[in-house]
Amino acid sequence: MKKLTKWGMLILLILFIGVQFIPKDNNRQLHISKYDIRNLYIIPKNTLKMIEKSCFDCHSNNTDYPWYSKIQPVRYFLDNHIREGKNMLNFSEFGNYSERRKRNKIRSIISQIQEDKMPISTYTIIHREADLSNQDKKIVIDWFNSIK
Ligand code: HEC
Repeated sequence: MKKLTKWGMLILLILFIGVQFIPKDNNRQLHISKYDIRNLYIIPKNTLKMIEKSCFDCHSNNTDYPWYSKIQPVRYFLDNHIREGKNMLNFSEFGNYSERRKRNKIRSIISQIQEDKMPISTYTIIHREADLSNQDKKIVIDWFNSIK
């Protein structure tokens, strides 16, 4: 029995080392592109701060990676989330969207925040600062309503 546990641990260790070689995305574009939502509209500072803090890690070309993202398979799941999030909505590419798509996305942003679907709750458990209070939600929603 003791021997088995030892082998089990060894196999786990080898697996853990092995998954560290899974390639990682690096979603870190340091310049703000001309299609970025920040270059498209004048966004009040505190509103912008909230959007950056609560949404940009998954909906922009620049993720602020936490330390544990260096560890696999954590990064693998993070990368998938970011890829999926950016596919649905990318604030760094907002200016590239058609007028119709922009309108749809704005409507969708408002409803996702209203229904507490965004930011994703598994994210706000770790990133407490990304959680929006009712007052914050109103400020962000009012702003998105103003550009509709
Ligand atoms: C931890 C990553 C993460 C964060 C943070 C996050 N999102 Fe998302 N978002 C996703 C993922 C993944 C999807 C696609 C799957 C889904 O809908 O659950 C998505 C989908 C969406 C959609 C749906 C787009 C569509 O066309 O239907 C909207 C709108 C959205 N997010 C807005 C926001 C806003 C606004 C914030 C900030 C208040 C935010 N998200 C924060 C990951 C995130």
